[in-house]
Amino acid sequence: MRTIAVVARKGGSGKTTLALHMAIAAHLRGLKVILADADAQRSSSEALRKRKVPGPKLVETASRKLFTLQEASRRAGDDLIIVDTPCCPDEEVSEAIGLSDLVLVVVRPSFFDVAAAVRSIDAARQLGRPAQIIINQAFSARFGKESAALDSALEALRFTGTPICPAIVHSRALFQSALAMGMSAEEMGPSAGAEEIAAVWANAAAPLVEAAQLKRA
Ligand SMILES: Nc1ncnc2c1ncn2[C@@H]1O[C@H](COP(=O)(O)OP(=O)(O)O)[C@@H](O)[C@H]1O
Ligand SMILES: [Mg+2]
Repeated sequence: MRTIAVVARKGGSGKTTLALHMAIAAHLRGLKVILADADAQRSSSEALRKRKVPGPKLVETASRKLFTLQEASRRAGDDLIIVDTPCCPDEEVSEAIGLSDLVLVVVRPSFFDVAAAVRSIDAARQLGRPAQIIINQAFSARFGKESAALDSALEALRFTGTPICPAIVHSRALFQSALAMGMSAEEMGPSAGAEEIAAVWANAAAPLVEAAQLKRA
């Protein structure tokens, strides 16, 4: 059993959007997955309740209760917990980070978000947890060229030395319309958004889960 925390010190970065998409991606790939909603705003719970078909198991929780949830999930034979975290307070976010096998730091390609991401990356480093940066809400590429904002964010983020997921998630109405029904972009038919989510799963989450399965075999 593995735990992935989705974090960002800034509200609106896309933690909930990515946590839900990763949890549903795991479900679609046949894994026993829990979406642990550790944010008192309960956005991911609201979205998953709209879902009409089987999907990730939803647990409304808090960072301080994560350890107990992990123990129960281990006993139940679950494969993965995805934790949707709040943006603050710092202690709560750190508690979730400290209990995770991987921390996905969601960053919008903007100056303020990059500065906030550096703090999340530092927190993961101090707690000895591997992290990966996921760029979300990038402006759409024009004529095959990504935005200047993305280029400068990538340049700044490279200095952190933390791996950056090569799959960039762009700003797309599809992510919002799918989640309004508790669904993932991947479930709405072939699209560029679906491909992005599949690529984030393959780069960021799949290696961790596969390593855990190999260990168990
Ligand atoms: N890639 C994206 N494309 C379009 N809208 C997005 C994307 N990521 C997030 N959003 C929207 O931005 C808002 C904040 O996203 P959310 O996932 O709730 O962020 P957080 O959980 O970090 O506060 C929501 O309205 C969400 O639908
Ligand atoms: Mg959220």
